[in-house]
Amino acid sequence: MSNSDRLIIFDTTLRDGEQSPGASMTREEKLRIAKQLERLRVDVIEAGFAAASQGDFESIRAIAAAVKDSTVCSLSRANDRDIARAAEALQPAARKRIHTFIATSPLHMQMKLRMEPAQVLEQAKLAVRFARNHTDDIEFSPEDGSRSEEDFLCRVLEGVIAEGATTINFPDTVGYAVPELFGETIRRLRERIPNSDKAIWSVHCHNDLGLAVANSLAGVMIGGARQIECTINGLGERAGNTALEEVVMALRTRGGYYNLTTNIDTTQIVAASKMVSQITGFAVQPNKAVVGANAFAHASGIHQDGILKARETYEIMRAEDVGWTANKIVLGKLSGRNAFKQRLQELGIDMDSEAEINAAFTRFKELADRKAEIFDEDIVALVTDEEHAH
Ligand code: KIV
Ligand code: ZN
Repeated sequence: MSNSDRLIIFDTTLRDGEQSPGASMTREEKLRIAKQLERLRVDVIEAGFAAASQGDFESIRAIAAAVKDSTVCSLSRANDRDIARAAEALQPAARKRIHTFIATSPLHMQMKLRMEPAQVLEQAKLAVRFARNHTDDIEFSPEDGSRSEEDFLCRVLEGVIAEGATTINFPDTVGYAVPELFGETIRRLRERIPNSDKAIWSVHCHNDLGLAVANSLAGVMIGGARQIECTINGLGERAGNTALEEVVMALRTRGGYYNLTTNIDTTQIVAASKMVSQITGFAVQPNKAVVGANAFAHASGIHQDGILKARETYEIMRAEDVGWTANKIVLGKLSGRNAFKQRLQELGIDMDSEAEINAAFTRFKELADRKAEIFDEDIVALVTDEEHAH
């Protein structure tokens, strides 16, 4: 295992997040989110599933060309066609990763793949060998890992590491895991597989039992994983995936216990959350940890009194550390250009030039003449409608 104290944050909002019914995004929307993920400094952006559709292919290619600081990744099934398509989409990337997967649980192998375990083992190894022709950065996932048999997992994972997989991602595909057992399984796998320390171990958890974040942290602390796969706002199929903002802030707030660092710029979290919510139309519940509107609100008299005396009485983290502005400025017709510009930055809206900001500011003033209070949604609409008009 890697004993590093650095944890890799792998964001899959654009791939697993988009698999939420109703959350599909256009190429431009994905590009905006990818740029915000880069500002957030995630290590790996899973930009999509290249073989799934022409649209996904083009989105990955556009992201691969635009993103410079994060590794860009495409998912692919364990076959040559998918892998070649992923490699083609990733071609412009400064740093690229191919993430290939095949199911390893008895249920999935029998009922879905209709393959014998020996065939699955062979296909997994061949896929990694083929992917190595395109990049050295290969991730392999045994889908439905948490319901797979350990002896079989050992054979598959040892085999793919020998073929050159550099990251082994252990998915709890259906959110069936519970923290201690999940962490222990990963620890045992790493112990039993002779070449396990040649790969970085990763966790990928779904939230069907509301345990995705807890399972991810157990995978790290008990299992020794050093990569967490997650999404903004916990977006994802069914009940969603591990929420990036929650794991990152747990690691930071309880840093003395975890003793692990991430590269994340936490002040970009709220902008990322708002952008994903606005683009997908998935509202963030007010009491959602870290990014919910009430996450730092204090209503009861006793709490307000405590906060006024010392913020730590009822706050375990600072609102401004995750990108909330402490004294929120209400934007309206009397607001100046600086306040407007600052709000654009808070919302993660990148304007290329001062001229562009001036034009947006003029449109904002026109709107403010008609509307008493301008909300964040109005600003985003004002800017994106203009983009579409060109
Ligand atoms: O949940 C899952 O198993 C996945 C894999 C493709 C990693 O998303
Ligand atoms: Zn998943």
